[in-house]
Amino acid sequence: MTSTERSAADVLAGTDCEQVVVVRDRRSGAVAVVAVHDTTAGPAHGGIRRWAYPALGDAVADAVALAQAMTWKCALAELPAGGGKAVLLDAPGLDRRAAYRLVGRTVAQLGGTFFTGPDVNTTADDLRVVAAETRFVAIGDDPAEGPGDLAQATAVGVFAAQQALAAHLGIDLDGATVCVQGTGAVGARLCGLLAEAGARLVVADVLPERAAAVAAVHGARQVATERIAREPCDLFAPCALGGVVTEAIARELPARGVCGAANNVLANAAAGRVLHARGVPCVPDFVANAGALIQGASWHLFGERTGLARLQRIGVTARELLVRAAAEDVPPGELALAVARDRLARLRAVCETGKP
Ligand code: NAI
Repeated sequence: MTSTERSAADVLAGTDCEQVVVVRDRRSGAVAVVAVHDTTAGPAHGGIRRWAYPALGDAVADAVALAQAMTWKCALAELPAGGGKAVLLDAPGLDRRAAYRLVGRTVAQLGGTFFTGPDVNTTADDLRVVAAETRFVAIGDDPAEGPGDLAQATAVGVFAAQQALAAHLGIDLDGATVCVQGTGAVGARLCGLLAEAGARLVVADVLPERAAAVAAVHGARQVATERIAREPCDLFAPCALGGVVTEAIARELPARGVCGAANNVLANAAAGRVLHARGVPCVPDFVANAGALIQGASWHLFGERTGLARLQRIGVTARELLVRAAAEDVPPGELALAVARDRLARLRAVCETGKP
């Protein structure tokens, strides 16, 4: 998440997105941005985020960065899909229904180039509003409806990646301390899986009642949000927003490994290098949190739900990456990005030349 104002034109000049659409609803004044990063492998997939951005440029920057991360996520999950993202500019007095209708109309106009679903602050009810305008949306809160519980799919994938990370570090999750930052849809479900595995949980949320609810159910210790990245632990699991691991935090994070659901969790590549230099492996978010994408895309593209085994394969990918990153002495995020870019480049070459 960005904090400084920047111009949309600057962001657009620096992106290789196929399309960035900025739309405004005349009646309500709601504004949304849809970024389609790459459709070489297949239609773009990405959820809808609603956030109070300081300026349009920040919203465009977030949409573009998140869409790009979705492309890498698809490539690493070997899905015939690409990356996209929709963001809605939240503001006091926003007509929420009109805003989600606007996104729905925009997705409909993209005609199947972009499939969407949940992301931060977008509820199943919001998605039902979108679904009234377009069929290219997964609602995903009801086991009987659409692709199923997408947040649960994400939590299952993150948990599989954490198991891989723990094995890589020689940690037994039973008795390990895991700090979970953000106990929303994914964080709360992840806490359930970790508690079942015997982990000791430390939780924090800017909405303290959410962390308190998880603490009550799973016997977790609740701490203030500013403490969660300072608590000594085995694994740090960021499940709130992106950009939380800055270089400064990476230098001091008292965790043996990092693996969570939040997109773009490293503030920059330098933060990943600091962690790597300290011997603290970080499973790339676009590997760990691919569960919802895998489940949503399988539903959209093939009309089927993914089974647990497909989601748990995220753990295999994570383990392979961690082993290779350690052997090659590179941060896992940089390695994963290189693998994803290479897969995409090869696919683009096939599309351009018609030769494998
Ligand atoms: P959510 O909105 O349900 O939960 C996020 C939680 O983080 C909220 O409870 C919020 O109060 C809390 N939070 C916000 N800022 C915080 C801070 N500074 N410190 C502590 N808590 C804070 O969102 P959801 O769906 O659980 O997603 C969490 C993260 O995972 C997001 O970054 C999202 O992009 C990513 N993600 C989610 C997927 C899904 O299936 N829902 C799929 C892939 C990634």
